[in-house]
Amino acid sequence: MGPALSRSVAQAQDADPVQSIQLEARQEWVTLGGRAALAFAYSRRVPGPAMELNPGERVVIDFRNALPEPTNLHFHGLHIPATGSADNMMIRVGSGAAQTYEFTLPGNHPGGTFWYHPHLHGAAAKQVSRGLAGPIIVRGVLDQIPEIAAAPEALFFLQDFTVPANGQFSEPGMMARMNGREGSLITVNGAANPVFNVQEQGWLRLRMVNASASRYYRVRLDQHPFHVIATDGGAIASPDAMEELLLAPGERIEVMIPGNRPAGDYAFWNMPYNRGGGNNAQRPTQLASLRYEGTVENPWTLPGKLVEIDPLPPPTMKRSFRLGESMMNFTINGRTFSESRIDTRVNLDSVEDWEFVNPTNMDHPIHIHTNPFQVLDANGNPTPVWKDTVNVRANSTQTLRIAFRDFEGVSLYHCHILDHEDLGMMGTVEIGRIV
Ligand code: C2O
Ligand code: CU
Ligand code: CU
Repeated sequence: MGPALSRSVAQAQDADPVQSIQLEARQEWVTLGGRAALAFAYSRRVPGPAMELNPGERVVIDFRNALPEPTNLHFHGLHIPATGSADNMMIRVGSGAAQTYEFTLPGNHPGGTFWYHPHLHGAAAKQVSRGLAGPIIVRGVLDQIPEIAAAPEALFFLQDFTVPANGQFSEPGMMARMNGREGSLITVNGAANPVFNVQEQGWLRLRMVNASASRYYRVRLDQHPFHVIATDGGAIASPDAMEELLLAPGERIEVMIPGNRPAGDYAFWNMPYNRGGGNNAQRPTQLASLRYEGTVENPWTLPGKLVEIDPLPPPTMKRSFRLGESMMNFTINGRTFSESRIDTRVNLDSVEDWEFVNPTNMDHPIHIHTNPFQVLDANGNPTPVWKDTVNVRANSTQTLRIAFRDFEGVSLYHCHILDHEDLGMMGTVEIGRIV
């Protein structure tokens, strides 16, 4: 999984354990898929170093901005306060400035794969597409299931870049931003076509993250199904075998891959997917390889059950959000983002249904901060799977059921095609005590 962050775990005065993390954003020459690029990097690496957190832990991040421009930090998918110096998107860290981010991960926080990235409105797509993104792993129940824990685990962190010959990035034109910029170079963990090992008769656990600004990935692996064990918000009820995975920007999936084919090399492919507006490649491109290496002595199978997930109770309120696009503005209910306006007010501890109506000819992956949700199926029943980002296909509607728990304050929802977010497709939600 690469070297861990420079960090120290200490015991605060007989209270929760504290993890201190140093993180610096700076412009840095790095190698992306074999090419030299003057990227934006976290602690000199693209992707940034993995943060490994434990429920109940106090996390203190000493963040320094050595970039030539302002930035900030977002902890995508974590259920932590959106206020103060926690996951607060109103924080702006100027060039040359420092900021301490601080939060306690709730003791009952689900384990799973999350990620961090900058979230400065207007600069998110630029900064993420130049390399600012890194994984967050929260340890949890899956790590304690013997059949899962027995498998080696690796990150599969997807990014895409447009690296010119001189290595200096430039901003794409208006058309590319309206469609959502896509880089011609796809990397997995910063490399082009890296190799992942699996033992014969063993399993490989992969944590897949779509950390691209706009690109979708439709992933297949030759002759191997993916046994999905977790989505954005952690473990699912039971392993689910899938031939292919669609990852919209911001989404994560954890899979187990069985080493049950003849030894050899197998390719991971990115298959064509038409999101409307993307560069619609007609041919699959190779992302990575799976290589058989060694044999396990005692083969094992996956358990039939992983965790219990209760469907959310019926909502006390239903709202509708209409996505729109006009004159280079991307809107929700006709308005572009303003941080000085509250668009939606909800009660703490309430459950609501949010319907996202997408009448446009482009898919929009909708992401909600702070609280995960369950997507309603065609019959209007909540799917017992925790998500924080869901693709709303062109000319379609998706309804999400959300429980607003634990934290008051102003949070955000937006399209995770980051160019669309920067062009206005984002809203504020104030969680509080209204009635
Ligand atoms: Cu990953 Cu508001 O974003
Ligand atoms: Cu987020
Ligand atoms: Cu969008």
